[in-house]
Amino acid sequence: MEWWKESVIYQIYPRSFADGNGDGMGDFRGIIQKLDYLKDLGIGGIWLSPHYPSPFLDCGYDVSDYCEIGAEYGTMDDFKEFLTQAHKRGIKVILDLVMNHTSNMHPWFIESKSSKDNPKRDWYIWKPNNGTFPNDWQSCFKGPAWTLDKETNEYYYHFFLKEQPDLNWRNPEVKKAMFDSMRFWLDMGIDGFRIDAITSIYEDEELTNQGWTPEEFEEKIKAKNSDSEFTPGKTWDHYMRYQTKQPELHILLQEMRELVDSYSESKLLVGELSDTEYLGDGDNELHMVFNFPLMAEGIDKKTVVNNQKIRLPLHIGNSWQGNTLSNHDVSRIRSKYGKDLISDKSLKHSAFLMATLKGTPFIYYGEELGMKNFNIDDIKDFMDLKSVNLYNSEMARGLTPAEALKIAQLDTRDRCRTPMPWSNEPNGGFSPAGVKTWLPVDPEYTQGVNVADELKDKQSILNFYKDIINFRNHSNILKFGDYEEIPTNDNDLLIFKRTYSNKSLYVVINYSNDKKDLKLFIPNNLNLEWGNIVDKSVIDKGDVAILS
Ligand code: GLC
Repeated sequence: MEWWKESVIYQIYPRSFADGNGDGMGDFRGIIQKLDYLKDLGIGGIWLSPHYPSPFLDCGYDVSDYCEIGAEYGTMDDFKEFLTQAHKRGIKVILDLVMNHTSNMHPWFIESKSSKDNPKRDWYIWKPNNGTFPNDWQSCFKGPAWTLDKETNEYYYHFFLKEQPDLNWRNPEVKKAMFDSMRFWLDMGIDGFRIDAITSIYEDEELTNQGWTPEEFEEKIKAKNSDSEFTPGKTWDHYMRYQTKQPELHILLQEMRELVDSYSESKLLVGELSDTEYLGDGDNELHMVFNFPLMAEGIDKKTVVNNQKIRLPLHIGNSWQGNTLSNHDVSRIRSKYGKDLISDKSLKHSAFLMATLKGTPFIYYGEELGMKNFNIDDIKDFMDLKSVNLYNSEMARGLTPAEALKIAQLDTRDRCRTPMPWSNEPNGGFSPAGVKTWLPVDPEYTQGVNVADELKDKQSILNFYKDIINFRNHSNILKFGDYEEIPTNDNDLLIFKRTYSNKSLYVVINYSNDKKDLKLFIPNNLNLEWGNIVDKSVIDKGDVAILS
């Protein structure tokens, strides 16, 4: 059973979801206590952001042991208990597979670094020091992608932080070690992986210079509209053409697919990228990629229509689309599209869209409450080293602390990773009163943005999410049906038809603030009215509806 096609998948960022032992950080005991909440929300799968031991310089995406649990999250027994309890409730679990790089504290790197003739030297990418960097490649977190190791006088390559050295995937021992780690978790019964940073796994062997200085790259990005050859995405792809998406990636994905397919139960591979070419022939590489363009472009009628027109046909064979509007790396939905929780329809629209489009909805924890980005005011309290580095480089350029802080606040991913507010008790009920949580709890929990209060309020975003997810869970049409746009002559009215087994539903979203008389806008042969609504609980007449 391809469970991922019928499930809504919920992303848990382990440090911020639920604190079971009251130390200010989330953990597995906490998650276990909240599984009934997720079940009630209608969730069918959990994507767990990294739960491995980590120095936490990239907030868990710097792994120092692939086959263990970070002590702050509990023990391996706690993990197993979590997995069993999730499965008992019909909830699948996929793990984050961070395979492009390790932490610099991983024993593999410590060995590799220890001497030029260490057997693990070639597990990472080392190049001689000829007086300057091996080439002009840049880290995607800014700055050169090479760091000199003074002891052995060689440079090592890192696509991300210098504390995240890239593994050398052309070394078969690396592949074997990583595949063994995958088997370790698969044998335990997990249901698949979200593969992190997948595009940068291989880089050009010839180390070809890419040609632009970082400043030239910035200029190209800024000049995006005047030069049609270089849209921002294309500019990035060009800049990174020797550091990402090398041809061997297809072969590696085929091998990973064979590995997961060797298990009798269905195991999902979803990659952190949007290129549908990595779905292979529809059956031999990833099962699913993310519809990131939709996340970047927005949710008005025109973008949704274009996005679906372009992307859906690219999903050949058995491959599948993953729809999401946020995750642990980007702004929260509310801060992206709207401002206030109550009157802002964009939250409801985005939930509705995710649940009704063709493809699997991925919901980032807290979106169902309408959480917003939270700005931290003191650079000392930042956890995301990427943005602390940015702050320091802006200060070095001569900016004032206040100016540098502003830039870092816009960059930092801390803002979307604050603890989940469970109630209006101190610390949002996440941790006991008086405990300093690992990132601050957004004080908005006192104003109703928390699980307990929203559950009681029929009109809350949380209850809207529950209704629409549960509606989708019971509708094969929404889960599996084909998508067809119904053209209307109104730019604010999005209508599409989903059809499965000769049965259809019409999904309608009114992006304007005016009530719309559907009859005025839809083709003559359709007899749609806000009145023939399929399920009253998921509509606000004149705003969104599912019509039969
Ligand atoms: C991915 C993760 C991001 C992390 C990076 C390096 O993009 O989503 O959080 O910083 O990989 O691992």
